[in-house]
Amino acid sequence: MCRIRVGSDTVSDPVSDTVSDPGSDTVCNPDYHIRMDLTPKRAADSATEMVQVVLPNDANPLGFILGGTVMHLIDIAGAIACHRHTRTRLVTAAVDDLQFLHPIKVGDLIILKSRVTCVFTTSLEVQVDVFSEETLTGRRRRTSRAFLTFVAVGSDGSRVQVPPLLVETEEERRVCEEAQARREQRLRRRILADD
Ligand SMILES: CC(C)(COP(=O)(O)OP(=O)(O)OC[C@H]1O[C@@H](n2cnc3c(N)ncnc32)[C@H](O)[C@@H]1OP(=O)(O)O)[C@@H](O)C(=O)NCCC(=O)NCCS
Repeated sequence: MCRIRVGSDTVSDPVSDTVSDPGSDTVCNPDYHIRMDLTPKRAADSATEMVQVVLPNDANPLGFILGGTVMHLIDIAGAIACHRHTRTRLVTAAVDDLQFLHPIKVGDLIILKSRVTCVFTTSLEVQVDVFSEETLTGRRRRTSRAFLTFVAVGSDGSRVQVPPLLVETEEERRVCEEAQARREQRLRRRILADD
């Protein structure tokens, strides 16, 4: 049975008979790549837009959408883009600092646009921008921007490698470099949070 080393853990690949490369940090069996479909993908292929109307049930007594509801929708919008990119099960590992810049009132539309910014080994970062849109005027404002990290997991909870991101333009390169810088800070904060 093939042993797969991902990060510090080793997990079994029950489908393979191949002996692993003990120095490998990723996946030991080329068949595993085929089964997981590690074909590089464009951010545009998984970019997602969610739109819904803010109903009274979503709101606080002032008639504005609850922050927790926005956070829930951000998690879902981010997860959809990451599912489309990875086609795996995912867990949310981190949500960076989140600000609510403007209220979104009952009757407005809430629009969430998510886009994968950078892919690492078993994790990936997604940016979610949240907008309000007044239904009568069409006036649109960005109300939040969030960066989330998702980790791809197999059915047994082990981490699995994710397809690389095709980075083709200068803008995409810049976005990915910024994501890498955020990841370094995030992993530093994780160590502190786990103390
Ligand atoms: C996220 C989780 C799977 C990471 O597991 P772990 O054993 O700590 O995994 P590792 O340290 O090997 O990290 C795996 C990957 O996740 C990344 N990661 C883990 N924690 C992270 C964090 N807080 N922020 C950013 N990335 C993180 C690592 O950098 C690594 O990425 P890479 O393979 O692309 O380099 C684990 O902490 C977990 O299950 N957390 C709970 C998740 C959850 O319940 N979410 C809410 C409901 S979905």
